[in-house]
Amino acid sequence: MVSRVIPVDDFDLVIFGATGDLAHRKILPGLYRRFEAGQIPASSRIIGAARTEQDDAAFRDEAFRAICDHSSVDKDNPQLQEFLGLLGYVAIDARGEGGWQALKDRMRPGAVHAFYFSVAPALFGDIAERLAGHGIAHDDSRIVVEKPFGRDRASARALNATLAKHFHEDQIYRIDHYLGKETVQNLMAVRFANVLFEPLWNAQFIDHVQITVAETVGVAGRGSYYDKSGAIRDMVQNHMMQLLCLIAMEPPYHFDPDAVRDEKLKVIRALQPVEPADIVRGQYTGEGSDYLTDAEDPASRTESYVAMKVRISNWRWQGTPFYLRTGKKLRARTSEIAITFKEPPHSIFDDSGVPKANELVIRLQPNEGMNLKVMIKEPGPGGMRLVQVPLDMSFADALGADGADMPDAYERLIMDVIRGNQTLFMRGDEVEAAWAWTDPIIEAWEDGKRRPEPYDSGSSGPDEALRLMHRDNRRWREIRS
Ligand code: BG6
Repeated sequence: MVSRVIPVDDFDLVIFGATGDLAHRKILPGLYRRFEAGQIPASSRIIGAARTEQDDAAFRDEAFRAICDHSSVDKDNPQLQEFLGLLGYVAIDARGEGGWQALKDRMRPGAVHAFYFSVAPALFGDIAERLAGHGIAHDDSRIVVEKPFGRDRASARALNATLAKHFHEDQIYRIDHYLGKETVQNLMAVRFANVLFEPLWNAQFIDHVQITVAETVGVAGRGSYYDKSGAIRDMVQNHMMQLLCLIAMEPPYHFDPDAVRDEKLKVIRALQPVEPADIVRGQYTGEGSDYLTDAEDPASRTESYVAMKVRISNWRWQGTPFYLRTGKKLRARTSEIAITFKEPPHSIFDDSGVPKANELVIRLQPNEGMNLKVMIKEPGPGGMRLVQVPLDMSFADALGADGADMPDAYERLIMDVIRGNQTLFMRGDEVEAAWAWTDPIIEAWEDGKRRPEPYDSGSSGPDEALRLMHRDNRRWREIRS
């Protein structure tokens, strides 16, 4: 199977914060991969903008090193030199006037103009104001903003208001990189391009859903940022919320940005407040791998792990809990969504054991694929004995090279910005609604005195989280890669 690469229109992309970590690790390597794939026209321009004083040649050297360090590219591929030729650089003072005219002079009329704000949110307003004030951005320019989009509803609302002074909502691309993951988009394909699942996709047939995003990395190196955030702000309010929405939403009438985002918003608004008894926080601990050391605050109460039971108040999901868990320094890196169906209402097989519930597991990373557990007859003589077997599909095996070589989330999302497609980006009201749900959870914790439950680095999380499930006569799926 050959994947189709449809080139995007000629563009000028300005990356604010071009000397930063995200630009080095994701944006520049991602752009190069799309160029290599033939998706970026050779006439396009990528302009780095940051405080550092340097010229185009120095920025190209920096980009070369970043791309080689953060992706598996052939350094000698002539395409890499060709790509570097697209790059330019402007030293800019986000809070002053220096560099803005030089940037304006670089922008070519007629090309798509996109501005990537890969900077601290505190600078969003300054940059937006100068882009508009200097006449660099126009009604059809696009801006891309990174997470964190606020740290509560009030700050997200203020950010939305600041951006809205200079840009319309359809010009603002709020990134949640989970939405750019191929398998996350596949959730919509699985649900809405098959008749098989949708009739069963409700509380009548689904017992519960587990969403797990487990990581093996800790927070060393970014402890001071992470400690102000914690797993709820860092992962639940955004990435896990998006996964929950895609699993729980009603079918949109069309695969169109507002139709999809309207349905996601309805899910967020239908989320019930989380009871304190339904949430467990943890902090990893262990010799040489301790949260309190990594966070550089021996008294920190910030969680590096959270597990919670979430209920959605609507007709489709009344009575079906969604269990969410995410954490750092866990046993394996794995993200998956497991849908456990209800047990058959009656067994006709008297002595052969009760048929077990079907389970559909969508593996988001790594080993992207799907696994459906079904009951069959155990082969051989001896009567009717039932056994549960997996129908296992790995996308890499099913799709050959295309399945193994999936574009990184950032590659997909940046190309969508150039195409002007907002389907995989968060709308302002969606972000605010997500904060409105998480704010009370965070406030209740911050007002209290409890400490997170310790868990061993390399384990499956705190024991308390097991009890959250046992209480409901359920159990977490094992965390393994
Ligand atoms: C980021 C979080 O948004 O997502 C990180 O800030 C986290 O803490 C990362 O590690 C996980 O992303 P991925 O793509 O590695 O699952």
